[in-house]
Amino acid sequence: MIYCNSVSKTALVVAKNLIFFHREYPQIDLSDPATVQWTELLLNELNQGNLLNRKWYRGLFRILEKLSIHGLAFHHAIRKKIILEFYNQFTDDELDNLIIVGGGFDVLSLIAIENEKTKKITELDSPATQFVKVSMLKNLGLDISKCNYLGLDLNNERLSHKFNEMNEPIKEASIIVCEGVLMYLTEEKIREFLIDLSFHFNGSKFIFTFMNNHEGSFHFEGTSVLAKIWLSLVGEPFLWGIKPIHLKLFLESCNMRLLEIIDTSEWVNDNLVEVKEKVAVGEFIAVATPFKKSC
Ligand SMILES: C[S@@+](CC[C@H](N)C(=O)[O-])C[C@H]1O[C@@H](n2cnc3c(N)ncnc32)[C@H](O)[C@@H]1O
Repeated sequence: MIYCNSVSKTALVVAKNLIFFHREYPQIDLSDPATVQWTELLLNELNQGNLLNRKWYRGLFRILEKLSIHGLAFHHAIRKKIILEFYNQFTDDELDNLIIVGGGFDVLSLIAIENEKTKKITELDSPATQFVKVSMLKNLGLDISKCNYLGLDLNNERLSHKFNEMNEPIKEASIIVCEGVLMYLTEEKIREFLIDLSFHFNGSKFIFTFMNNHEGSFHFEGTSVLAKIWLSLVGEPFLWGIKPIHLKLFLESCNMRLLEIIDTSEWVNDNLVEVKEKVAVGEFIAVATPFKKSC
């Protein structure tokens, strides 16, 4: 089956990076088996997976990665691992509602479908990418009835309105995942999004990633000019980043309390002492929770 070209190219990069990393560095055992299995299935459906099984292609992939953002695949593999761990932790804490924003070709929704503890799942993404994902999942014959896959353009729509349109006003606290998305929005849109979350998702855990503001650049350190041009050409330039030390205040101005920040390069130093591979630096994983402002 041929799918249209208007899908998020960066979403495809994340999925390919995961499989590249899993195949190329089997000694660094980061990938969860279900994540690998589902991601391979999606990539194969998009005719993007088979080449990654070939050593020569992975050699080219590795060169391309070095020339664009060195260590990005390693960073993505750690990012997925940490987010899955947070999901499992918060699921154990009885949060049984999962909302994924800007899901791309991420497979957490498919993992959650099989998790009895997660009762309701909603995944949203820009309409073109979501349309392709749903077509793929249906074509693969998967039972996705437990998950609501919806189109949402955060530049023009609010998450809460989307739920209200479905006549499903949100009452439950949820696990909300927004991985690798905020960098594509302006600060104004991010504020709108976070304030919307804080009003409608009280008691939730918001797991998200954000780019550093490194001397006025929102890119990974060492990003090549070619990579920046490519991001602009595919219509996904990086628009926002913030220094980790400023995140707490920024979130508080949007009625959210910062709970944790994880830097993947520090995570490698703490957890993979023996590993000498480079990990891309510049994006952090964070968890926040909405709070009610006292009058
Ligand atoms: C780098 S991909 C990340 C995909 C996925 N979260 C992951 O980490 O595997 C960025 C995602 O953000 C989505 N996105 C970007 N701008 C958006 C917007 N204005 N509204 C909704 N989704 C958006 C894209 O469609 C894409 O799926």
